[in-house]
Amino acid sequence: MLNIVLFGPPGAGKGTQAQRMMDATGLPQVSTGDMLRAAVKAQTDVGLEAKNYMDSGALVPDQVIIDLIKDRMQEDDAKGGVMFDGFPRTVPQAEALAEIVDVSIVLAIDVPDERIVERICGRFSCGNCGAVYHDSFNPLPETGCTCGSFAEKRRADDTEQTVVARLEAYHQQTAPLADFYRASGLLHLIDGDRDIDLITADMLKALN
Ligand code: AP5
Repeated sequence: MLNIVLFGPPGAGKGTQAQRMMDATGLPQVSTGDMLRAAVKAQTDVGLEAKNYMDSGALVPDQVIIDLIKDRMQEDDAKGGVMFDGFPRTVPQAEALAEIVDVSIVLAIDVPDERIVERICGRFSCGNCGAVYHDSFNPLPETGCTCGSFAEKRRADDTEQTVVARLEAYHQQTAPLADFYRASGLLHLIDGDRDIDLITADMLKALN
Protein backbone atom coordinates (compact mmCIF):
# COMPACT_ATOMS: atom_id res chain seq x y z
CA MET A 1 0.00 0.00 0.00
CA LEU A 2 1.32 3.38 -1.06
CA ASN A 3 0.77 6.53 1.02
CA ILE A 4 2.37 9.52 -0.67
CA VAL A 5 2.87 12.96 0.88
CA LEU A 6 3.17 15.89 -1.53
CA PHE A 7 5.09 18.54 0.36
CA GLY A 8 6.10 22.09 -0.56
CA PRO A 9 5.36 25.80 -0.25
CA PRO A 10 2.04 27.33 -1.36
CA GLY A 11 1.90 27.42 -5.15
CA ALA A 12 4.69 24.83 -5.53
CA GLY A 13 2.48 22.73 -7.80
CA LYS A 14 1.21 20.13 -5.31
CA GLY A 15 -2.37 20.24 -6.63
CA THR A 16 -1.24 20.28 -10.26
CA GLN A 17 0.97 17.23 -9.74
CA ALA A 18 -1.61 15.46 -7.55
CA GLN A 19 -4.09 15.46 -10.44
CA ARG A 20 -1.51 13.91 -12.76
CA MET A 21 -0.31 11.39 -10.18
CA MET A 22 -3.90 10.33 -9.50
CA ASP A 23 -4.23 9.40 -13.16
CA ALA A 24 -0.93 7.50 -13.04
CA THR A 25 -1.34 5.72 -9.69
CA GLY A 26 -5.10 5.48 -9.18
CA LEU A 27 -4.64 6.81 -5.62
CA PRO A 28 -7.20 9.33 -4.34
CA GLN A 29 -6.00 12.87 -3.58
CA VAL A 30 -6.54 13.95 0.01
CA SER A 31 -6.16 17.74 0.05
CA THR A 32 -6.81 19.45 3.38
CA GLY A 33 -7.07 22.78 1.53
CA ASP A 34 -9.90 21.41 -0.67
CA MET A 35 -11.60 19.83 2.35
CA LEU A 36 -11.46 23.13 4.25
CA ARG A 37 -12.77 25.13 1.28
CA ALA A 38 -15.70 22.68 0.99
CA ALA A 39 -16.38 23.13 4.72
CA VAL A 40 -16.28 26.93 4.40
CA LYS A 41 -18.71 26.78 1.46
CA ALA A 42 -21.07 24.48 3.37
CA GLN A 43 -20.75 26.73 6.46
CA THR A 44 -20.10 23.78 8.77
CA ASP A 45 -18.61 24.36 12.24
CA VAL A 46 -15.17 23.45 10.88
CA GLY A 47 -15.64 25.83 7.96
CA LEU A 48 -16.71 28.70 10.19
CA GLU A 49 -13.69 28.14 12.44
CA ALA A 50 -11.23 27.75 9.54
CA LYS A 51 -12.34 30.71 7.41
CA ASN A 52 -10.54 33.50 9.28
CA TYR A 53 -7.28 31.56 9.41
CA MET A 54 -7.45 30.79 5.69
CA ASP A 55 -8.37 34.35 4.69
CA SER A 56 -5.38 35.71 6.59
CA GLY A 57 -2.96 33.08 5.25
CA ALA A 58 -2.42 31.43 8.65
CA LEU A 59 -2.53 27.69 9.31
CA VAL A 60 -5.74 26.24 10.71
CA PRO A 61 -5.20 24.74 14.24
CA ASP A 62 -3.68 21.24 14.22
CA GLN A 63 -6.55 19.51 16.04
CA VAL A 64 -9.11 20.67 13.47
CA ILE A 65 -6.96 19.27 10.67
CA ILE A 66 -6.14 16.00 12.45
CA ASP A 67 -9.86 15.35 13.11
CA LEU A 68 -10.65 16.01 9.44
CA ILE A 69 -7.98 13.54 8.33
CA LYS A 70 -9.05 10.86 10.81
CA ASP A 71 -12.59 11.03 9.39
CA ARG A 72 -11.37 11.08 5.78
CA MET A 73 -9.18 8.00 6.31
CA GLN A 74 -12.24 6.01 7.42
CA GLU A 75 -13.71 6.27 3.92
CA ASP A 76 -13.53 3.22 1.66
CA ASP A 77 -11.41 4.79 -1.08
CA ALA A 78 -8.66 5.58 1.46
CA LYS A 79 -8.14 1.95 2.46
CA GLY A 80 -5.76 1.16 -0.42
CA GLY A 81 -3.47 4.15 0.07
CA VAL A 82 -3.77 7.87 -0.65
CA MET A 83 -1.90 10.90 -1.88
CA PHE A 84 -1.82 13.65 0.75
CA ASP A 85 -1.71 17.16 -0.73
CA GLY A 86 -0.93 19.97 1.72
CA PHE A 87 -0.98 17.67 4.75
CA PRO A 88 0.86 17.30 7.07
CA ARG A 89 1.99 20.90 7.52
CA THR A 90 3.36 20.85 11.07
CA VAL A 91 5.34 18.34 13.15
CA PRO A 92 2.29 17.57 15.40
CA GLN A 93 0.25 16.81 12.23
CA ALA A 94 3.02 14.50 10.97
CA GLU A 95 3.15 12.72 14.33
CA ALA A 96 -0.63 12.26 14.27
CA LEU A 97 -0.45 10.90 10.71
CA ALA A 98 2.17 8.35 11.76
CA GLU A 99 -0.42 6.94 14.21
CA ILE A 100 -2.93 6.49 11.37
CA VAL A 101 -0.89 5.17 8.39
CA ASP A 102 2.67 4.39 7.35
CA VAL A 103 3.93 7.10 5.00
CA SER A 104 5.72 5.48 2.04
CA ILE A 105 7.44 8.52 0.51
CA VAL A 106 7.47 12.33 0.83
CA LEU A 107 7.85 14.12 -2.50
CA ALA A 108 9.11 17.60 -1.57
CA ILE A 109 8.62 20.11 -4.40
CA ASP A 110 11.25 22.81 -4.15
CA VAL A 111 10.39 26.24 -5.63
CA PRO A 112 12.08 29.56 -4.74
CA ASP A 113 9.90 32.19 -3.01
CA GLU A 114 10.19 34.66 -5.89
CA ARG A 115 8.35 32.24 -8.22
CA ILE A 116 5.51 31.64 -5.77
CA VAL A 117 3.76 35.02 -6.01
CA GLU A 118 3.53 34.97 -9.82
CA ARG A 119 2.30 31.38 -9.75
CA ILE A 120 -0.43 31.96 -7.18
CA CYS A 121 -1.64 35.31 -8.48
CA GLY A 122 -2.12 33.86 -12.00
CA ARG A 123 -3.85 30.69 -10.86
CA PHE A 124 -7.42 29.72 -11.73
CA SER A 125 -9.25 26.42 -11.85
CA CYS A 126 -11.96 24.90 -13.97
CA GLY A 127 -15.31 25.81 -12.44
CA ASN A 128 -16.63 22.37 -13.40
CA CYS A 129 -13.96 19.73 -12.64
CA GLY A 130 -11.42 21.73 -10.58
CA ALA A 131 -8.44 21.20 -12.92
CA VAL A 132 -5.74 23.80 -12.14
CA TYR A 133 -4.54 26.33 -14.75
CA HIS A 134 -2.41 29.47 -14.90
CA ASP A 135 -2.91 32.66 -16.94
CA SER A 136 0.60 32.40 -18.46
CA PHE A 137 2.21 29.08 -17.49
CA ASN A 138 -0.69 26.67 -18.07
CA PRO A 139 -3.50 28.48 -19.92
CA LEU A 140 -6.91 27.05 -20.69
CA PRO A 141 -6.78 25.46 -24.18
CA GLU A 142 -8.84 27.18 -26.90
CA THR A 143 -11.14 24.16 -26.80
CA GLY A 144 -11.70 24.64 -23.05
CA CYS A 145 -10.86 22.32 -20.17
CA THR A 146 -10.46 18.59 -20.86
CA CYS A 147 -13.94 18.21 -19.26
CA GLY A 148 -15.34 20.54 -21.94
CA SER A 149 -16.08 23.48 -19.63
CA PHE A 150 -14.95 27.10 -20.11
CA ALA A 151 -15.92 28.18 -16.57
CA GLU A 152 -13.09 29.69 -14.48
CA LYS A 153 -12.86 29.97 -10.69
CA ARG A 154 -10.33 31.96 -8.59
CA ARG A 155 -9.54 31.42 -4.91
CA ALA A 156 -10.29 34.15 -2.34
CA ASP A 157 -6.85 33.69 -0.71
CA ASP A 158 -4.88 34.02 -3.96
CA THR A 159 -3.94 37.66 -3.39
CA GLU A 160 -0.42 39.05 -3.17
CA GLN A 161 -0.94 40.10 0.47
CA THR A 162 -2.19 36.67 1.58
CA VAL A 163 0.55 34.87 -0.34
CA VAL A 164 3.19 36.68 1.72
CA ALA A 165 1.49 35.50 4.95
CA ARG A 166 1.14 31.94 3.58
CA LEU A 167 4.84 31.88 2.71
CA GLU A 168 5.72 33.09 6.19
CA ALA A 169 3.58 30.34 7.75
CA TYR A 170 5.30 27.84 5.44
CA HIS A 171 8.82 28.86 6.45
CA GLN A 172 8.05 29.03 10.17
CA GLN A 173 5.77 26.02 10.68
CA THR A 174 5.95 23.71 7.67
CA ALA A 175 9.53 23.80 6.37
CA PRO A 176 10.89 22.19 9.61
CA LEU A 177 8.92 19.08 8.63
CA ALA A 178 11.49 18.40 5.91
CA ASP A 179 14.01 17.51 8.63
CA PHE A 180 11.43 15.31 10.36
CA TYR A 181 10.98 13.23 7.18
CA ARG A 182 14.65 13.41 6.16
CA ALA A 183 15.55 11.80 9.48
CA SER A 184 13.30 8.84 8.67
CA GLY A 185 14.72 8.52 5.13
CA LEU A 186 11.38 9.30 3.47
CA LEU A 187 12.18 12.70 1.95
CA HIS A 188 12.69 12.84 -1.81
CA LEU A 189 13.54 16.32 -3.18
CA ILE A 190 12.06 17.35 -6.52
CA ASP A 191 13.15 20.50 -8.39
CA GLY A 192 9.80 22.27 -8.90
CA ASP A 193 11.16 25.23 -10.85
CA ARG A 194 10.84 23.44 -14.18
CA ASP A 195 8.36 22.39 -16.80
CA ILE A 196 5.26 20.70 -15.31
CA ASP A 197 5.76 17.51 -17.41
CA LEU A 198 9.39 17.10 -16.30
CA ILE A 199 8.34 17.32 -12.65
CA THR A 200 5.65 14.66 -13.14
CA ALA A 201 8.18 12.38 -14.84
CA ASP A 202 10.61 12.82 -11.94
CA MET A 203 7.93 12.04 -9.39
CA LEU A 204 6.87 8.87 -11.18
CA LYS A 205 10.53 7.82 -11.37
CA ALA A 206 10.86 8.38 -7.60
CA LEU A 207 7.81 6.16 -6.99
CA ASN A 208 9.20 3.38 -9.14
P1 AP5 B 1 -3.99 24.83 0.32
O1 AP5 B 1 -5.20 24.79 -0.50
O2 AP5 B 1 -3.30 23.57 0.66
O3 AP5 B 1 -3.00 25.87 -0.36
P2 AP5 B 1 -1.40 25.91 -0.45
O4 AP5 B 1 -0.57 24.95 0.27
O5 AP5 B 1 -1.14 27.32 -0.13
O6 AP5 B 1 -1.10 25.40 -1.82
P3 AP5 B 1 -1.76 25.85 -3.11
O7 AP5 B 1 -3.03 25.09 -3.35
O8 AP5 B 1 -1.87 27.36 -3.10
O9 AP5 B 1 -0.64 25.50 -4.18
P4 AP5 B 1 -0.20 24.15 -4.87
O10 AP5 B 1 1.12 23.73 -4.35
O11 AP5 B 1 -1.30 23.13 -4.87
O12 AP5 B 1 0.03 24.72 -6.34
P5 AP5 B 1 -0.84 24.55 -7.67
O13 AP5 B 1 -0.68 23.19 -8.22
O14 AP5 B 1 -2.24 25.05 -7.48
O15 AP5 B 1 -4.28 25.57 1.71
C1 AP5 B 1 -5.04 26.77 1.76
C2 AP5 B 1 -5.18 27.19 3.23
O16 AP5 B 1 -5.89 26.18 3.97
C3 AP5 B 1 -3.86 27.38 3.99
O17 AP5 B 1 -3.33 28.69 3.81
C4 AP5 B 1 -4.30 27.11 5.43
O18 AP5 B 1 -4.96 28.22 5.97
C5 AP5 B 1 -5.33 25.99 5.27
N1 AP5 B 1 -4.74 24.64 5.36
C6 AP5 B 1 -4.75 23.69 4.37
N2 AP5 B 1 -4.15 22.56 4.80
C7 AP5 B 1 -3.77 22.80 6.08
C8 AP5 B 1 -3.08 22.02 7.04
N3 AP5 B 1 -2.66 20.76 6.78
N4 AP5 B 1 -2.83 22.59 8.25
C9 AP5 B 1 -3.26 23.84 8.56
N5 AP5 B 1 -3.90 24.64 7.67
C10 AP5 B 1 -4.16 24.11 6.45
O19 AP5 B 1 -0.02 25.56 -8.63
C11 AP5 B 1 -0.07 26.96 -8.43
C12 AP5 B 1 -0.11 27.66 -9.81
O20 AP5 B 1 1.14 27.47 -10.47
C13 AP5 B 1 -1.19 27.11 -10.76
O21 AP5 B 1 -1.75 28.16 -11.49
C14 AP5 B 1 -0.42 26.15 -11.69
O22 AP5 B 1 -1.01 26.07 -12.98
C15 AP5 B 1 0.96 26.80 -11.73
N6 AP5 B 1 2.05 25.81 -11.82
C16 AP5 B 1 2.12 24.59 -11.22
N7 AP5 B 1 3.29 23.98 -11.51
C17 AP5 B 1 3.98 24.86 -12.31
C18 AP5 B 1 5.27 24.82 -12.94
N8 AP5 B 1 6.10 23.75 -12.82
N9 AP5 B 1 5.65 25.89 -13.68
C19 AP5 B 1 4.83 26.99 -13.81
N10 AP5 B 1 3.59 27.08 -13.25
C20 AP5 B 1 3.19 26.03 -12.50
